[in-house]
Amino acid sequence: MPKGIEGSNPSLTAINSVNQRKQATHMKEPVRVTVTGAAGQISYALLFRIAAGEMLGKDQPVILQLLEITPALDALAGTVMEIEDCAFPLVAGIEQTDDPDTAFGGADYCLLVGARPRGPGMERKDLLKANAKIFSAQGAAIDRQASRGVKVLVVGNPANTNCLIASRNAPNLDPSRFTAMTRLDHNRAVAMLAAQTGSHSTVVDGMIIWGNHSATQYPDIHHCRIDSRPAVELVEHEWVERRFIPEVQQRGAAIIKARGLSSAASAANAAIAHMRDWALGSAGRIVSMGVCGDGSYGIEKGLVYSFPVICENGGYRIVQDLAINDFSRAMMTATENELRQERDDIADLL
Ligand code: NAD
Ligand code: LMR
Repeated sequence: MPKGIEGSNPSLTAINSVNQRKQATHMKEPVRVTVTGAAGQISYALLFRIAAGEMLGKDQPVILQLLEITPALDALAGTVMEIEDCAFPLVAGIEQTDDPDTAFGGADYCLLVGARPRGPGMERKDLLKANAKIFSAQGAAIDRQASRGVKVLVVGNPANTNCLIASRNAPNLDPSRFTAMTRLDHNRAVAMLAAQTGSHSTVVDGMIIWGNHSATQYPDIHHCRIDSRPAVELVEHEWVERRFIPEVQQRGAAIIKARGLSSAASAANAAIAHMRDWALGSAGRIVSMGVCGDGSYGIEKGLVYSFPVICENGGYRIVQDLAINDFSRAMMTATENELRQERDDIADLL
């Protein structure tokens, strides 16, 4: 008998009071946001920002549905007390549970964070054995329980292949509902290029992360503009090849080495940006998302691969017809091959 759904259920009182305020202020109907691994470090930076309206807008009430493993439910109760103590106007209810079917019930947005993080000296794909089964079980529960228009973001590593597993275990949902997070890599690449060119990150446009959220990912500046000037005219190719690409690829490991723990606040920030753009649009700007490949750019159909996308009208589309030179093609193929290998390693879960 799962513990959970105790203490801080979405009380009718809370929902009623949001309903009253909704009528007074023209707020929207509450939506259900499921976050897994809700007692972990990323979630500690994530939940408060979702509750504050930074993900779905300041007019969008949310019911938080928080999933943890049984031993972490006490810690989760502490996080929930803190959310309650913020008295967020947009929080219409909070559920806490160790039962995936409960957590994903009616979910409109699912952020799959709960998974083991890597330690020093590990690659993210070393986590595949430990984490893959989490995503087959959760994909199946999402298939049974979530809203048919659900938007799923997989953060837990290795994010692309975990996303593939979740999606394949949800045969009644379109694979386009499932995405993997490469926005942190995208933001890292934007910040590094801005620093190198003495610009502000807000004037860097058109960054692309291709492929896997791993050390083979390809941060590509060929379509990037800085204050409308092509980035390739502002930096040396040698810097791109020897410094920029490896540093973006290895940034997660550098943070683990420095902190003794993997990135958390920046990962939460990227998750907020990914979901916000998907839900509300990216205002015509290219962002990077791991999505189910449709054969674009010759990448094998069905792999969860990071592409340049534009988000609009609650959906996303892969940006087409970008010119790809030989250097880029080799990098894109290397990361595609790694994703193929990861997929083949967990073939029994698909
Ligand atoms: P953490 O260990 O602090 O938290 C993970 C939480 O997940 C724990 O509280 C754990 O109890 C919970 N959990 C484990 N199995 C679960 C299950 N089956 N259902 C629900 N909850 C479960 O780790 P963290 O630092 O928050 O990182 C979480 C994951 O995110 C890791 O895999 C990490 O590598 C990954 N990550 C990805 C990115 C990215 O850019 N895609 C960035 C940072 C971290
Ligand atoms: C990151 O990129 O920071 C995360 O994926 C954590 C890690 O293992 O590197």
